Amino acid sequence: MNTNPKPTVAIVGGGISGLASAKQLLPFEPVVFEATDSIGGVWKHCAYRSTRLQTPRPDYEFSDFPWTDRADPSFPTHAEIVDYLRGYATRFGLWPLIRMRSKVVEIRYLGDRAKAGFTAMWGGDGRPFAGQPAWELGVIAGDSQVVQWHKFDFVVMCIGKYGDLPKLPSFPKGKGYDAYTGKVMHTLDYCKLDEEEAAKLLKGKRVVVVGYKKSAIDLAAECAQANIGPDGQPCTMVIRSLHWTVPSYSIWGLPFFLFYSTRLSQFLHSRPNQGLLRSLICHLSTPLRKGVSKLIESYLAWKLPLEKYGLKPDHPFEEDYASCQMAILPENFFAEADRGRIRFEKSSEWWFWEKGVVLGDEMRRVEADIVFLATGFEGKKKLRTLLPDPFAGLVEDSSGLMPLYRGTINPLIPHMAFVGYIESVSNLHTAELRCIWLARLLEGRFKIPTVEDMFAQISQETEIMRKTTRFYRRHCISTFSINHSDEICGEMGWSSWRKKTWLAEAFSPYGNQDYKEVDEA
Ligand SMILES: Cc1cc2nc3c(=O)[nH]c(=O)nc-3n(C[C@H](O)[C@H](O)[C@H](O)COP(=O)(O)OP(=O)(O)OC[C@H]3O[C@@H](n4cnc5c(N)ncnc54)[C@H](O)[C@@H]3O)c2cc1C
Ligand SMILES: NC(=O)c1ccc[n+]([C@@H]2O[C@H](COP(=O)([O-])OP(=O)(O)OC[C@H]3O[C@@H](n4cnc5c(N)ncnc54)[C@H](OP(=O)(O)O)[C@@H]3O)[C@@H](O)[C@H]2O)c1
Repeated sequence: MNTNPKPTVAIVGGGISGLASAKQLLPFEPVVFEATDSIGGVWKHCAYRSTRLQTPRPDYEFSDFPWTDRADPSFPTHAEIVDYLRGYATRFGLWPLIRMRSKVVEIRYLGDRAKAGFTAMWGGDGRPFAGQPAWELGVIAGDSQVVQWHKFDFVVMCIGKYGDLPKLPSFPKGKGYDAYTGKVMHTLDYCKLDEEEAAKLLKGKRVVVVGYKKSAIDLAAECAQANIGPDGQPCTMVIRSLHWTVPSYSIWGLPFFLFYSTRLSQFLHSRPNQGLLRSLICHLSTPLRKGVSKLIESYLAWKLPLEKYGLKPDHPFEEDYASCQMAILPENFFAEADRGRIRFEKSSEWWFWEKGVVLGDEMRRVEADIVFLATGFEGKKKLRTLLPDPFAGLVEDSSGLMPLYRGTINPLIPHMAFVGYIESVSNLHTAELRCIWLARLLEGRFKIPTVEDMFAQISQETEIMRKTTRFYRRHCISTFSINHSDEICGEMGWSSWRKKTWLAEAFSPYGNQDYKEVDEA
């Protein structure tokens, strides 16, 4: 029997998700384990010199901690974001909860493993706390090599979808890393360099960047910048798949939020649990949705030299938006391409040879002094390696997604929550609202449905994502984010429609300020 009247809660990770969890779970006085010596997560450890927020500033703020300069239209730098997060930790007294340089290296389940997970109600009876510790965390603190074990009633995993663990391509024998005599770096290694080291590394070098998403695009732009001058060399981007890139949040003079972030715009899109009538409306609005996507595509094709460089994707813009992989272009990107400092090579396959890379589609060879892998991260693998069996095997379902009720609870993993794994246009907003929901769940203010019902909800969401975009595995809710929040509000006993007027309800975008905590339940 646990004699401690207050259940013990651990939060693993001190990025945005860990901080939002800590703030919302303050009444439980949680312990936050952060592996590094700083809060901020990717903004501290996975950023280049040029990395900025690509979400508009007022959309990336906590509901109870506005940016002091929230009307400033510039996108904050990564350093500004870390400062903002430090301000948040100070404002809400989070520092005493955070144990820096405390890496969780192993997690053990203390409950009955045979029964674990496979019950009609989450954790057996649907309650977040079992009345005794459910998990034991093995932590290595500071320079110690000794694992210290700590027991907790509930654990919130916030170790991040990106950063920490690079996704590294594998190759057939003889075509891999050993075949190449130059330098290979993942973007994560590049993030560790200071400004001077980065510029020195790139200057005068023939660089290949593998990838065509945000990390790759920003790195190519930095590479071009470092190679201004007579001894400058071009940077070649090796592109496996094309995606839509966007120069700014204005399309034909209209603000971008009008297209996808208002209740009216999302009304045209499918959502989970929609009845027959809504399904019919969505079906009938297909031409309208396609029209919106085409309108944006026409603007991008007009504004950017996509045809000239063969960079126009075949898939609709909407599919990239619905999978949260829309990259905002650095200002100088295509200007540098026009100057010959950035080149593009499309190839579905590539491998190394002695002096660079071979592009499999045409068996062309590109010589390179450095090959950068901007190939992404292994967020789910990071989780799998920490969790014990059978839970590690339950992190991902057969569709490749994390089955998370309300984006937070895996119905088969008891006494544990996950924050930061579903995405939208503002991951901070998505994380914070789910933490508010989680706090209320832990306080016993509402009950969670049966495991079966949670899975039914999850599969509805998966189905919507699958139907909307071929890239659904990114687990993005951006086309039904307002509905997702509505359902969360409903479960918490909050009103879902949160604007002051009908006009605002229809036409203004939903953001964190709409979910300011007012004790409605
Ligand atoms: C470069 C970059 C730019 C981005 N830009 C945007 C953007 O503009 N807009 C947007 O909405 N989203 C953006 N994202 C997505 C971004 O990941 C989220 O917005 C958000 O910052 C994620 O926060 P997080 O706390 O979930 O994860 P992270 O920031 O990854 O934080 C995880 C934390 O957990 C710690 N940790 C990991 N493992 C352990 C362990 N075993 N023990 C203890 N601690 C551990 C890490 O050290 C880290 O501090 C960006 C991502 C990247 C990589
Ligand atoms: N705010 C910012 O400034 C900023 C900066 C950087 C990153 N981010 C965010 O951080 C997250 C991660 O972004 P990311 O760009 O690092 O990773 P990512 O989005 O996962 O993109 C990885 C890229 O590498 C390609 N790739 C992967 N394996 C490959 C292989 N074997 N061969 C060829 N190409 C391969 C992918 O191609 P396919 O498309 O074919 O898979 C894709 O283009 C995203 O959410 C992004 O928005 C934001």
